[in-house]
Amino acid sequence: MNYPYQLQSFEAYLAAYQKSIQDPEGFWAEVAENFTWQKKWDRVLEWNFQDPKIEWFKGAQLNMTENCLDRHLATRGNEPAIIWESNDPHEQHRVLTYQELHFKVQQFANVLLNNGVQKGDRVCIYMGMIPELAIATLACARIGAIHSVIFGGFSAQAIADRLEDAGAEFIITCDGAYRGAKAIALKSVIDDALVGNKTIKCVIVCTRTRTPVSMSKGRDVWWEDEIKKVETMGNPKVEPATIDAEDILFILYTSGSTGKPKGVVHTTAGYMVWTNYTFVNTFQYQPGQVHFCTADIGWITGHSYIIYGPLSAGATTLMFEGVPTWPDAGRFWEVVEKFKVDILYTAPTAIRSLMACGLEPVKGKDLSSLKVLGSVGEPINEEAWHWYNEHIGQNRCPIVDTWWQTETGGVMISNLAGITPAKPSYATLPLPGIQPCLVDENGVEIEGNGVNGNLCIKFPWPGMIRSTYNDHERCRQTYFSTYQNLYFTGDGCLRDEEGMYRITGRVDDVLNVSGHRIGTAEVENAINMHACVIESAVVGYPHDIKGQGIFAYVIIEGKNQDLESLQKEIIQKVNEVIGPIAKPDQILFVPGLPKTRSGKIMRRILRKIAEGDISNLGDTSTLLDPSVVDQIIKLAR
Ligand code: PRX
Repeated sequence: MNYPYQLQSFEAYLAAYQKSIQDPEGFWAEVAENFTWQKKWDRVLEWNFQDPKIEWFKGAQLNMTENCLDRHLATRGNEPAIIWESNDPHEQHRVLTYQELHFKVQQFANVLLNNGVQKGDRVCIYMGMIPELAIATLACARIGAIHSVIFGGFSAQAIADRLEDAGAEFIITCDGAYRGAKAIALKSVIDDALVGNKTIKCVIVCTRTRTPVSMSKGRDVWWEDEIKKVETMGNPKVEPATIDAEDILFILYTSGSTGKPKGVVHTTAGYMVWTNYTFVNTFQYQPGQVHFCTADIGWITGHSYIIYGPLSAGATTLMFEGVPTWPDAGRFWEVVEKFKVDILYTAPTAIRSLMACGLEPVKGKDLSSLKVLGSVGEPINEEAWHWYNEHIGQNRCPIVDTWWQTETGGVMISNLAGITPAKPSYATLPLPGIQPCLVDENGVEIEGNGVNGNLCIKFPWPGMIRSTYNDHERCRQTYFSTYQNLYFTGDGCLRDEEGMYRITGRVDDVLNVSGHRIGTAEVENAINMHACVIESAVVGYPHDIKGQGIFAYVIIEGKNQDLESLQKEIIQKVNEVIGPIAKPDQILFVPGLPKTRSGKIMRRILRKIAEGDISNLGDTSTLLDPSVVDQIIKLAR
């Protein structure tokens, strides 16, 4: 497969960018010509940011898997589509060619059909990083079912909330998942999540860890048994269903400023074009290369750059079940060496944790296959950038620092590997089609260079969020109401003298812990569920490895408590309600919280105290009880 829309010089980038702004519809129509359509579009774009209404390639019909699988069979049928490396370095790796993946996706699509899944149904997927997870998502897309993947680290309560919000009727899970030295139960978590659930009709369970599970008769079936049934039927073909351009491909839940996660809705045609275009251009993918994205498919990065972007481009995508530091901190480098990885795409938190392990694990590993390195999920600090560049890229691989979000579907601001300039800790320049702007608190655009502001986007792009599932108004309020006629990202941003963008972090109450997005309100809700807790306030503080750590200020009932066990119980509560990714790093029991007269918690002050910087707490005169601040400072010492 070749990519006529791959930008191969800085001039080509500038020209494409110009065209994408002057004639967006013409620009994207030209890119879209490179895909397989069952029916072409009537209109390239219809939109307004008031409702919001965003429709790309309206009138077109297509199937995502026809683009990810069928169309590659003639030319790349025997090439690897997915290479899978186990958590256990001694277990044999697996390779699925395009032909084999095409077969397996249809086989599992039959399983879905046999179990009553229909177009438009919501299918929740809660699995570890095994090829069956990719097969399950693609099988949903094959028949037009909507998948909603939930990261394997979320708790039963968190799953229950998401199942309910999505009105899911089907679940695909595993007995358990391996993560480093541990086998984690998944099916039993689903069982807990299903207590009281009335909508789930069927749970399909794939075997991985052989963790004992209980199967509920009439509801739960084994993946392997169901496949056998399909084999007995003679593995009937499942033709790619006809899907409208704006039909939902998937829902992915993400955190925001409120306690309730929202289901970000991505639709089919625009998301396909966008993930493919950004994959091919950002990483400068060349046919035959091995692309290794270390994210979990439970997050948007895995959706866009393990599955849909690479497969729609006929690429070889490497899926890794394990963790960077097990059995030792050389695991990533072993995988790179073993499969001669060309492109490595990971998160700053992983880089920092490996950096902390020193150079011994890197020594002796052959990293000469690497051509491009990528970073995603949070700002990458200069120290980590240089370490990555020097010790992994050996000063010869461009690093792409890709800024984007669950809501944006794919990379928005990034250098293009080796094509546009890089600058440590800068995401640099917008991709074609992206019109970033910086605004002040009043929504006034800040023009010129060498300025700071809130990052917004002026014009729609094909991969953007269409709605929040079941609650379109929430989508409008969250992203399109803060500033008129702009999509608000929630990020602060600097545009330097050269016009390069540097993301400075969230300006709302969203934390970024190890590249995972967590709402402060979500964590507070969880903490407040502990019987002894009256109130809590959660803020982020700089953390060497995680980027941000979670600091919780907690007011408890009564005195004479055993504070140490209470801390443990609170952490346990957060584990139960959200999952271990959200557990506080520090808990401070306080007599009160700094509140304004209108009852609003002044987080700015709490953030400063958590950072250990009390030199300039700013104006505290509007506080109801300023003395509370001194008491907290004393306790924090
Ligand atoms: O704050 C930005 C940060 O991650 C947020 C989006 O998180 P999520 O939806 O979970 O998606 C993560 C993977 C795309 C953004 O609002 N972020 C993401 N990439 C970068 C980043 N911050 C700085 N630099 C980046 N490259």
